[in-house]
Amino acid sequence: MEPKVIKRIGVLTSGGDSPGMNAAIRAAVRAGFYYNIEMYGIYRGYEGMIHNEIKKLDSKNIAHVLERGGTFLKSARSEEFRTPEGRQKAYENLKAHGIDALVVIGGDGSLTGAHLFYKEFGIPAVGLPGTIDNDLSGTDSTIGFDTACNTAIQAIDKIRDTATSHDRLFFVEVMGRDAGFIAINAGIGSAAAAILIPEKKMPIEDLVEKLKVRTKAKKTSNIVIVAEGGKSGGAAEIASKVKKLLPYYDIKVTILGHLQRGGAPSSFDRLLASKLGVAAVEGLLHGKYDVMAGLINHKVVYTPIKKAIVDDKTVDEDDFRVAKILST
Ligand code: F6P
Repeated sequence: MEPKVIKRIGVLTSGGDSPGMNAAIRAAVRAGFYYNIEMYGIYRGYEGMIHNEIKKLDSKNIAHVLERGGTFLKSARSEEFRTPEGRQKAYENLKAHGIDALVVIGGDGSLTGAHLFYKEFGIPAVGLPGTIDNDLSGTDSTIGFDTACNTAIQAIDKIRDTATSHDRLFFVEVMGRDAGFIAINAGIGSAAAAILIPEKKMPIEDLVEKLKVRTKAKKTSNIVIVAEGGKSGGAAEIASKVKKLLPYYDIKVTILGHLQRGGAPSSFDRLLASKLGVAAVEGLLHGKYDVMAGLINHKVVYTPIKKAIVDDKTVDEDDFRVAKILST
């Protein structure tokens, strides 16, 4: 597509925040300044676009944000943006500010919003994959995933200490609504006895059998990782089912929850976010609209948003194999 002349770009973060979003905003804004573009911050995601929470950014706004978790632009999940009336209001506000393109940082819902907006109003947008879940195609890793895995592993290491002292069985629930990426990474990285993820059903009987085998092998403490969207239920549900079948086990449940969404981004996420922030602005300037910028094999790749959100990115079968070998 022949590139439009772009003078003002709006940047927003939307949906669940993820560590590295600030680094991505900073990179996009700095890249914009480099190419003499006026940069605008749209606060509270699409909700702020509808309610006109839009401010011009200068270099002070993005000083010392790269290393901070969360998003200084704030984030929200907007119900109103799902309606044509909400999107119309949002468009009027962008028009009033003379914003001619968008960088949207978020997960599948946020990128779907950018896609719809492009289709309805022709506002060019480049999406960046900002979610701890890693459930977007078109990128090897999403911004925040690496940090979330590190956070989960550090927490599980601590649980391991107390589990060992008391010879206990712990069920640790990690985030990942429909995706087991955090669970499989954190599980392999923390020597879990078993990993339960949404993509694969493990019957309770199989889990119980596995635990019995480990007990016979004199493994007195065990950690089972459960993804929150697991097919057999959450950690609490699975723990109570297992307790019925193995009443002599001393069982505890820990839900890591939103702990995994915060914290300073890892070096991997800082680099990923920085590269993609620049790629978003350069993509817009080169006429790449309605795409998501991602990194595949260390190279920037632009994937149509529709494909990035629809294509099923699944946990690598080989990761399962490795997890199974290491927990037997
Ligand atoms: O999509 C990111 C995520 O952290 C999921 O892993 C989790 O299910 C969800 O967001 C939680 O959303 P909220 O913060 O709105 O409760």
